[in-house]
Amino acid sequence: MAIDKFGRSISYLRISLTDHCNLRCVYCMPEDMTFRPNAELMQDDEIILFTRLFASLGFHKFRLTGGEPTVRANIVELVQQISDTPGVQSLTITTNGILLSKLAEPLAKAGLDRVNISLDTLDPEKFRRLTRWGNLEDVWAGVQAAEKVGLTPIKINAVVVRGYNERDVLEIARLTLEHPWQVRFIEMMPFAGATDLQINQVVDWEEMFQRIDSAHGPLEIVDGGKLDGEARLYHLPDAVGNIGFISSVTKPFCATCNRARLTADGRLRLCLLREKEVDLLTPLRAGASLDDLREMILEGIWHKPWGHGLEQGIIPLNRVMNEIGG
Ligand code: 5AD
Ligand code: SF4
Repeated sequence: MAIDKFGRSISYLRISLTDHCNLRCVYCMPEDMTFRPNAELMQDDEIILFTRLFASLGFHKFRLTGGEPTVRANIVELVQQISDTPGVQSLTITTNGILLSKLAEPLAKAGLDRVNISLDTLDPEKFRRLTRWGNLEDVWAGVQAAEKVGLTPIKINAVVVRGYNERDVLEIARLTLEHPWQVRFIEMMPFAGATDLQINQVVDWEEMFQRIDSAHGPLEIVDGGKLDGEARLYHLPDAVGNIGFISSVTKPFCATCNRARLTADGRLRLCLLREKEVDLLTPLRAGASLDDLREMILEGIWHKPWGHGLEQGIIPLNRVMNEIGG
């Protein structure tokens, strides 16, 4: 069991399969983003080895992220192998949905349990403006395909950016009236790559809440406000789905954080919003034993930071979001 010095037990690993992406969302990366050469990324066998290692330390919940995890070659085989790994109880993916209409079925057959799909607006023009390159129709087809093959309950992630989609929260929230989905509104977080926009155009969760509550409310709290992962859940009158708010910036959920991340280049990232990392891939390639690697993981987890330093102006600038995976 991996525990940190604050007594949190860490059992959820988010693995970034690649920093590459087929979109260029304004809140994530610059349009002329350059990616790492493939040789610097974890190779398939290295990902499987790390999965086994973390599972042997009591990690049981795994999520595949990116960049965009579906652009990785062999994604279906990787999902198959990870889901077959003893100890892996839950395997999910966070995707922009662009390639999901074709991949949903093979991924479900390979053992994927659920998907989180990013969808920041239902307006095709605004979608293009936010993602720079995306077609809303592709994502929508992906959502339908995921639902059809039972990758449910579907979770929809919407990052809210002032000047782009702060009014779209209403239409997105209304999806829960007809669909049994969890629609989650996310406060934008600052990293390298798009820092000015990320700092200046944040919409906090209270504003999102007020907009939805006054137009379609009252929003009723679900489960007495108990967090579902990182989201605080509400629902609209007569809705079949739920609405979640992820307030990582203004009201972080560090006390219940049970997660660690593996970056696409094989570093153990201990907190999304802190630069602290432990390089695992270099030692693995240099011949470290499994026991050595286990030690490094446990030692890293022990020192997992508590909370971000955004109020003190400390912004993690060693990475662009697409290498950490959100
Ligand atoms: N702040 C908050 N969320 C972000 N995402 C990407 N960049 C940011 C950011 N700066 C989200 C994506 C996706 C998940 C992987 O992280 O929209 O839902
Ligand atoms: Fe790609 Fe996701 Fe970043 Fe958008 S937020 S550019 S879909 S990695």
